[in-house]
Amino acid sequence: MSEHRPANRPLIIAIDGPAAAGKGTLARRLAGTLGLPYLDTGLLYRAVGRRVLDGGGDPADPTGAEAAARALRPADLDRPDLRGPEADAAATAVAAIPAVRSALLAFQRNFAGERGAVLDGRDIGTVIFPDARVKLFVTASLQARARRRWLELRAKGSDAELSTVETDMRARDALDAARAAAPLRPAPDAALLDTTELDADGAFRAAMSEVARRR
Ligand code: CDP
Repeated sequence: MSEHRPANRPLIIAIDGPAAAGKGTLARRLAGTLGLPYLDTGLLYRAVGRRVLDGGGDPADPTGAEAAARALRPADLDRPDLRGPEADAAATAVAAIPAVRSALLAFQRNFAGERGAVLDGRDIGTVIFPDARVKLFVTASLQARARRRWLELRAKGSDAELSTVETDMRARDALDAARAAAPLRPAPDAALLDTTELDADGAFRAAMSEVARRR
């Protein structure tokens, strides 16, 4: 009998991908169906960026951003001002700083604990949980993703232009993919899920069949 008994490890589902690919919707639904806790790790970087902005600092300054990451408290994740163009840009800037990423590592690993979890982000399958049982890399065309984000913003009363949303998103994706620290890329063992032509139900069904295959 093998000494390696992967079935006894807590179930960790790592969902990575670029902005507005549908990771959050999918992760929340998987977590609800499988009875696992869910962590949106983008909120950590958003909350760090917001703390830096609160203090009048520059999110790209490594010293201030690291101090903000070390001072982060769980209640910061509930702030109502973590979305929108300013928070987006600040999150992407602090996320490129290695000391910020290290300061947030233990929180993410501890979150899964003995119980397992669904986490979504950019480096969950590559850096945070390289041994996760299920890894999904969720993507969609830039146009489809920008349109989804634009519709979300409009539903919240924003009058942002679709072209501006698309330009900002292209810039953030490029920074996430080009940075030296934990760049956005699929883990070699991740299943790719392109949601350009899939609605939320279709993405959920595809993800559940991958979960069934890997369990
Ligand atoms: O919702 P959206 O996809 O636009 O962004 P998010 O997932 O909330 O992430 C905001 C920013 O945080 C991203 O642009 C990344 O720079 C960064 N991030 C990261 O570097 N690593 C993660 N695990 C999650 C987010």
